[in-house]
Amino acid sequence: MKKVITYGTYDMIHYGHIRLLERAKALGDYLIVGVTADDFDKTRGKINVHQSLSERIEAIRATGIADEIIVEEYEGQKIDDIRKYDIDIFTVGSDWKGHFDYLNAYCKVVYLERTEGISSSEIREKKRSVKLGIVGNDKYLNKVFTETEFVNGITVSGICSDNPVNLSKIVNKAPVVTESYDEILELSDAVYIHSIPNLHYEQVKKALLKGKHVLCESPIAYNKQQYLELFDLAKEKGLILTEALRTAYSTAYHRLQLLVSAGKIGEVVSVDAVCTSLLDEVKKDKEYLKKEWSSITAWGPTALLPVFQILGTDYKDIRFVTNFIDEEIDFDGFTNISLIYPKAVASVKVGNGVKSEGQLIISGTNGYIFVPAPWWKTDYFEIRYENPTENKRYFYQLDGEGIRYELADFIKSIESGKDSLFIDKEVSLEIANVMDMFVGHKNMTII
Ligand code: CTP
Repeated sequence: MKKVITYGTYDMIHYGHIRLLERAKALGDYLIVGVTADDFDKTRGKINVHQSLSERIEAIRATGIADEIIVEEYEGQKIDDIRKYDIDIFTVGSDWKGHFDYLNAYCKVVYLERTEGISSSEIREKKRSVKLGIVGNDKYLNKVFTETEFVNGITVSGICSDNPVNLSKIVNKAPVVTESYDEILELSDAVYIHSIPNLHYEQVKKALLKGKHVLCESPIAYNKQQYLELFDLAKEKGLILTEALRTAYSTAYHRLQLLVSAGKIGEVVSVDAVCTSLLDEVKKDKEYLKKEWSSITAWGPTALLPVFQILGTDYKDIRFVTNFIDEEIDFDGFTNISLIYPKAVASVKVGNGVKSEGQLIISGTNGYIFVPAPWWKTDYFEIRYENPTENKRYFYQLDGEGIRYELADFIKSIESGKDSLFIDKEVSLEIANVMDMFVGHKNMTII
């Protein structure tokens, strides 16, 4: 019996796939189809595959062409499979020509002519092309713009900036650059807001009132009422409002949470997060500072994320120790937040214009998780135990600092009409609440 194997993602199966499978089957007597696992796709740069692995497997099964379906999970697996299943022929479409010649050492390699004029990417692109307006002055927007190019289903409609000096890399690429927020809303289906935080509430509200979906950099609002008002407005209008915190979308960070929930380090007794960055310059001029992100706004939401996601939001006490650069406008140079839970503590240290080791440590009754700096965009962490031989290291590919996954998830939410699962509303609400307490100087020691 001649055994044939072929691999693919098979997202939203189309006749190009079917034709390939039929011809692959005709090469022998028994066809094995390897469907790529979601994580493996991510490492291959396919980050916005529309269907889940089980849906894609089901679709292949429904064609009735495959004799056996397997899952492709890791680099190099093809060699293992060819040996394990005693394969005679490996085949894929001609778009891969030359790429798999190395498999000739194990079996015959056949490239089949790819069907012209159809691909999963095209179907995805047609299905959803959200016109996204980008709002703000921060140089971080250069990265966001670049990342939109990796996510199909997004077309940048323009940039809204009143001072595009930091955006030199993208202003020439954007179809429109305008100071008018109304104009950008007019041109867009959705907006990504990264303006200075005290503009967020008004800008989000305006966008929602005009029927636009919103991805807004955290903090979305400065208190719970504002946040709830915006959230209710989005719901009433059937729009997506998502807090932009790229860390929540990093695979390593997400897996770390699952391991904590599964009890890998026992009961969590403390979460310690440090986030700092140096500014190009720190001017003490009020007008200048009014246009900058303070330590708490730049880093507070990110540093609080693991605290609230791991320990929850029912803490008993919270204390701030803050060094203000300008107290009148609540611009802090650095802030330390201590939280007390019934059976755990947390500490958050943030500084914009300060440098420290940006690590995350989650301590438990059996061991601890160590995430090295910069933990908020890590692809790596360790679980450490009393006996170092039991320590485990975990690596997960992170593309585009998580921004790419964040954008892909936003598009998915718009399309499905369902809110993102990455950041609970409770967590967002509590972040807004901490901002409120900070601005009210509640439980605060000023140094
Ligand atoms: N294929 C084909 N003809 C097409 C599309 C795909 O023969 N028009 C083949 C590919 O060469 C591969 C298999 O079908 O052997 C699975 O391809 P996959 O990457 O899942 O599909 P694409 O439509 O190419 O997906 P994408 O657009 O995401 O790259």
